[in-house]
Amino acid sequence: MILVTGGAGYIGSHAVLALLQAGHEVLVLDNLCNSSRASLDRVALIAGRKARFIKGDIRNRALLDELFQRWPITAVMHFAGLKAVGESVRDPLRYYETNVAGSITLCQSMADAGIFRLVFSSSATVYGESVSMPIREDCPTGIPTNPYGQSKLMAENVLKALAHSDPRWSIALLRYFNPIGAHESGLIGEDPNGVPNNLLPYMLQVAVGRQSQLSIYGNDYPTRDGTGIRDYIHVVDLVEGHLCALERLNQSTGVSVWNLGTGQGYSVLEMVRSFEQIIGRSLPVRSVARRPGDIAQCWADPSKALSELQWSAKRGLHAMLADSWRWQKMNPQGYQAEIAVAPAEV
Ligand code: NAD
Ligand code: WQD
Repeated sequence: MILVTGGAGYIGSHAVLALLQAGHEVLVLDNLCNSSRASLDRVALIAGRKARFIKGDIRNRALLDELFQRWPITAVMHFAGLKAVGESVRDPLRYYETNVAGSITLCQSMADAGIFRLVFSSSATVYGESVSMPIREDCPTGIPTNPYGQSKLMAENVLKALAHSDPRWSIALLRYFNPIGAHESGLIGEDPNGVPNNLLPYMLQVAVGRQSQLSIYGNDYPTRDGTGIRDYIHVVDLVEGHLCALERLNQSTGVSVWNLGTGQGYSVLEMVRSFEQIIGRSLPVRSVARRPGDIAQCWADPSKALSELQWSAKRGLHAMLADSWRWQKMNPQGYQAEIAVAPAEV
């Protein structure tokens, strides 16, 4: 059985689905602070079977001990965490407590229970402002400009030290680039609380009329069209990378770092134009000043994951945007409402 922390969230719910479809038993631990149980009901609908769900907090050591004692857990996929960059600047203690202290509590409980296999959700944000592109795993980590990024780097360092201290640990640090997209059924996807911070969720909400206009942050970057370039990766490709990493943890110990990206960067304007083609109309946009803390460009060298995990991203930009749009159209208010359009009609 695999314990999936944060399994009701955006990436976690797609991972739970992939694990169920691969035949694993799954236990989800999530405090639902940024998600809803509806995501797991939808996962069950697609998979035809359920993950077990416990509403609880990764910072609750007694609960973790009880779960590891009660269920035959052999490995943990650890998605639970807080991820809003701006919020982390306003409330750094909450971010360090959840993302760093929460990860430490989880590892302490795992070690006491004799479970040493862990897949951790890290982020390309740990590279900071890297000078050369594409970014390889051996590029030095930078100085993330916000507490969220710092918390991911700190958690990585804790996990590296842990793996070096005790050879029983087998840990995968997966550095995600920019996950977007949704399962092709349109039943699960990203459902941000409040006003979205990220580009694609914001574009989707403009397209369904929940936001009036997209602000393009900066048109004077040293890039091909002046707007920021990122390596967007389909969430289903991303979670397939997790299953490959999990397999690999069975065969080796120590700590390994893998980039999960496509190796291809797109600018904000390219994203907007491609999305407009999919929805068949233009999107209201305006150019505004750069967003503080943003970097000009960032894309992965994903060749290490290809050679060591036999994993690469298969879905291109069109699939990422079309799948995101299907999710948004079927669920204009996210998980709050019943599905607006039956899957067959989309
Ligand atoms: P998400 O907010 O949708 O999912 C995180 C889940 O963790 C939520 O369901 C939330 O309720 C749960 N959670 C938060 N604190 C918890 C706690 N203390 N105890 C139990 N559950 C808790 O976010 P996501 O996009 O699915 O991200 C998953 C992981 O991937 C996070 O660790 C995030 O930092 C990391 N990551 C995300 C991105 C991205 O762009 N989405 C990029 C890089 C890394
Ligand atoms: C992408 C591009 C913006 C919104 C963030 C976190 C990172 C990681 C992924 C978790 C940039 C531009 C955005 C908008 C815009 N999360 N943009 N208008 O900043 O690459 O990464 O999410 O680990 O840590 O920092 O993603 O989607 O916010 O921005 O023009 O309304 O879109 O300037 O060039 P980012 P993003």
